[in-house]
Order: sequence, then structure tokens, then C-alpha cells
Amino acid sequence: MSSQPRRLLVTSALPYANGQIHIGHLVEYVQTDIWVRFQRMRGHEVHYVGADDTHGTPIMLRAEKEGLTPKELIAKVWQEHKRDFDDFLISFDHYYTTDSPENETLSQSIYLKLRDAGLIEMRTIEQAYDPVKEMFLPDRFIKGECPKCGAKDQYGDSCEKCGATYSPTDLKNPFSVVSGATPIKKLSDHYFFKLSDPRCENFLRDWTQVKTPLQPEARNKMKEWVGQPGESKLGDWDISRDAPYFGFEIPDAPGKYFYVWLDAPIGYYASFLKYCEQTGLNFDEWVSPDTTTEQYHFIGKDILYFHTLFWPATLHFAGYRTPTNVFAHGFLTVDGEKMSKSRGTLISAHSVMECGFNPEWFRYYFATKLNDSLEDLDLNLQDFVARVNSDLLGKYINIASRSAGFLVKRFAGVVNDQAMDHTLITHITGASETIAALYEAREYAKALRTVMELADQVNAFVDDNKPWDIAKDPEREADLQRVCSVTLEAFRLLTLYLKPVLPNIAVGVEEFLSIPPLNWGHVHTPLNSQSPIKPYKHLMTRVEAPQIEALLAANL
Ligand code: MSP
Ligand code: ZN
Repeated sequence: MSSQPRRLLVTSALPYANGQIHIGHLVEYVQTDIWVRFQRMRGHEVHYVGADDTHGTPIMLRAEKEGLTPKELIAKVWQEHKRDFDDFLISFDHYYTTDSPENETLSQSIYLKLRDAGLIEMRTIEQAYDPVKEMFLPDRFIKGECPKCGAKDQYGDSCEKCGATYSPTDLKNPFSVVSGATPIKKLSDHYFFKLSDPRCENFLRDWTQVKTPLQPEARNKMKEWVGQPGESKLGDWDISRDAPYFGFEIPDAPGKYFYVWLDAPIGYYASFLKYCEQTGLNFDEWVSPDTTTEQYHFIGKDILYFHTLFWPATLHFAGYRTPTNVFAHGFLTVDGEKMSKSRGTLISAHSVMECGFNPEWFRYYFATKLNDSLEDLDLNLQDFVARVNSDLLGKYINIASRSAGFLVKRFAGVVNDQAMDHTLITHITGASETIAALYEAREYAKALRTVMELADQVNAFVDDNKPWDIAKDPEREADLQRVCSVTLEAFRLLTLYLKPVLPNIAVGVEEFLSIPPLNWGHVHTPLNSQSPIKPYKHLMTRVEAPQIEALLAANL
């Protein structure tokens, strides 16, 4: 066990406030939450913050469509997101919004520091403009006919019909998705973060290739992006947008707004700052370049370069510390395919609850699929039912129901203290640091496989000793108490190992075993005769196959 408590700031990506939380998002929040809960159990100081990502054109336009102001829309969505995260037991210490005064102040001050460092440059560029709606159009708001196959109603980057990729200016008969008007070209002043500046290039080459232990796939990608010394591969980053835009105004450029991706990651700090103000933590101590605290960002692989190029460069040149590491994960597919609205597999978090699923089934299933790589992971719906029922119910929960009854009925819930000195117990406690190392390395699939192997051994112990037979023999009372005591202690240990994944189940078990909240140090604090266990209450139900049909139907 590590001796010095570490001080950790952990984040998950900030979900866009223009849509619901779906199970794809949940992979990330569950992955982060398991890690955070594990670190807390190890006795470290952990602060887990998040926020909704609220700015940008899509949110502005969606609010208009719904007859709301952007602020009304994001307030409504915040409630929904918070509800979903609570439902799935995501244990944020603080959940905020990027549309906050803290974020505005921080974003502006960071921008001014970058400007004073000579890293901001103004340039005039030509862009698509909607003359009816009187706004500049992001690529995804322009449609037209595919230049290759002529398919109608295609987006500006690629054709869904023939798969061709192209740029929006190649579209035939282009039109604005907002008004239907034909876009025109218009000039406008934009502000750029000069990533091509040699100082930035050198910093990022060192940060991504030497200083930061990025995942190998991520490091290689960044090597391509950053290039060799002298190659100047990095383009400058356009950080401004023209009005109308829902976001923060740039301090020295009235009518210009920060591009949402400038203020979104700063939203991590703004959320943490607000939380520091509420709790008395010293924000500066955490974000100054010489800090000994650790900072980790969990993200999906699609937003890697925002977090391993733009964000560290922003922080470094504004005088802040940079992330200790960035952990990227792959994308969730359902039954081997991209989640899709028409198949009902774009499953919202809320529908999972409405259909009566236990959120811990999903936490467990995702954990059995998660590792430290960027590989995609699949939710196979049949496999989901099988795993939950056979692993969680059949192997794990079953252990408690097989042994608790005898102890309560025959021994007033009292375990035999001498029985704890048993090879099965020594074997299970002996796995604790291996399992801890797997959680630490985000190798949850391996951690759970190890725990389920131990569960198999406990079940074999019960099968070999047959407490139901011993119970029939009045001369073997002491044996019965010993066997049940060993079995329940083993169950306590398995619960401890599963607690980062199954926090609610763990609370139920702590109650039933009459023990204080389990942390990692309790590996060596066995059940004892001084605190008798309570009667076993059902901890978890099985998932039934028809529930899956209902879930898909609810998402069509
Ligand atoms: N708003 C940005 C992040 C800003 S961070 C400063 C964003 N939002 S998002 O709502 O689109 O995605 C939130 C997170 O969920 C991202 O890390 C994204 O990769 C992840 N996922 C979205 N769909 C996913 C899957 N299908 N599978 C796994 N993760 C997914 O990006
Ligand atoms: Zn086409």
C-alpha cells in the first residue's frame, strides 16, 4: 500500500448541453468514477469535477428552435444531465457549467496572458455566410449535393451515400441548414493561437513525446501531429467566432467570441475554482507550475488533440501547470455496430432507468470491457444478460445467500474469530495489491476477471464443504459456524474489491455485515464476533431478457 496520500484532481469530458446523456457517454463517466472511487478507497485526496459544455452555435440554434433563450435551455439540460449522473452513481464532487462567471473571468485572463506572450494573431479569413440569417456558418450547417454521386442533402465534409470526402466548397447547390439560403463568402477578422510558433512546437513535442506518459497510441498520433523539429506541422488555431454566438466575448475584440473549444477545457478549472471557494481548498496551490498535486483528464479518443495539444499549450503559456496525464478510451458500439437511432441502440441514460434496469448492471458490464487502450468496446446485449446473471448473481451475490442464513438462524449472526485464519482467506487477501494495481492502471477487465476467479474458488469451497449437509448433523455445529464464517469473510473481501464498480451493492453489504464503509485498508480487518451480521436481504435482482427488448423499443 502506498504510504503518502496523493492529491488528485480528476475530470471527465464536459458533455455538450445540446443533447441527452446516452450509454456511450456513460462509458466514460463510469470509467472515471471507478478510478476516482478506487483512489478514495486507497486513502488519497481526490477531487472529481465536471460541468456541462454549454457554448457554441448548435446550442444557440437549438434554443431558438425550442423557443428558449440559450440560458434557459442549458439550465434545463443541466438538470437532466445531473439527474442521469446521479442515477448512474457518478460521484462528482462538483458539477458545474461552462457558462459561469468563474469561467468567463478565467478564459479572459488566460487569453490576455497568451496575447501578452505574443501568441495571439489576428488574420482576415473568408468563410461561408448565411445572408438571410446573417451569420457565419460552421461546416455542419451547410448541406448540398455530393460532388461525386450527386446525392442530395449531404453534409459539407462527406457523402453518406457514396462515402466520398470533400470540403464544403465542393458541394453542388449548397444551402444553409438554418435558413435554406445559398451561402455566400464573406471576410471576417479572426484571432489565432499561434501553435506554429517555435516555442509552442518545442513545448508540445517535449510534452507529448517525453514529459507525459501518454498511452502509446496517443503518443504516436501526437508525433504525427507535432512532427519533427523544423517540420512546422502544427497549424495555428482559430479561437474566435463572430456574433451571433452563444459564448464569452473576447475582451479586446467587441463582437468577437471565444470559440467553444477555448473556454470548454478552462471549464474544468472554473468548476474546480468554484468548488475550492465552497470548500476552502487553495486553488492556486493546485494549478501553479510547481505544484506536487496530480491532474488527470479522462476523455474519448475523438477529442484527444484538444486535450494533448491545445489544452496543455494554453495552460503552459498562460503560466499554469499542465495535466499529469490524459487518459483516452475508445467508443462504445452496440451489438458490433455504431449506436443508431433507427435500431433503438442510441440508448439514453434516462431510458435505462425508466425501463427498470439497475445502473450497477451497466457499471459492471462496462467495467468488464474496459482497459487502458483506445480500442472501441462493444455492448453485446445477449452477453450483457449472461454476464450480469452469471457473474454478479450466480457467482458473487449467491455466496452471501448461501452462508448468511445459517449464521443468523443458528448462531445469532456471530462469526467464529478463529475461523478467519484460513488458507482461502489468506489467498483472497493476497490478491489485494494485484487487484489494486489493475484498477490503478485502468485495467478494469483484468481486475474483474481476477475477482471472479476468486469468487469461483469461494463457490468451490462452499460446494466442497456442503454447509447444508453439515447443518443436518447436530454434532457438527462448530464446523458449520466455521465454514459459514469463512464464506462470509470471503464475501466481504470480494465486496471490497468490487466496491469501486458496485458502490450501492457495497453499501447494502456493509449494512448487512454491520461493518463501517469499506476502504482498501480493511482488507486486513476481518469480520469479528463482536459485531453480529444482520439477516440477509436481497442485494440485487436478475436481468430478464425481455427487458432488453423494452429498452430498445423505448429508444426508437
Ligand atoms: N463537449 C465536448 C467535450 C469538452 S471537454 C472540455 C464533447 N462532448 S460530448 O458530449 O460529445 O462527449 C462527451 C464525452 O463522451 C467525450 O469524451 C466523448 O468522447 C464521449 N463519448 C461520446 N460518445 C461516445 C461513445 N459512443 N462511446 C464512448 N464515449 C463516447 O466532446
Ligand atoms: Zn456521394
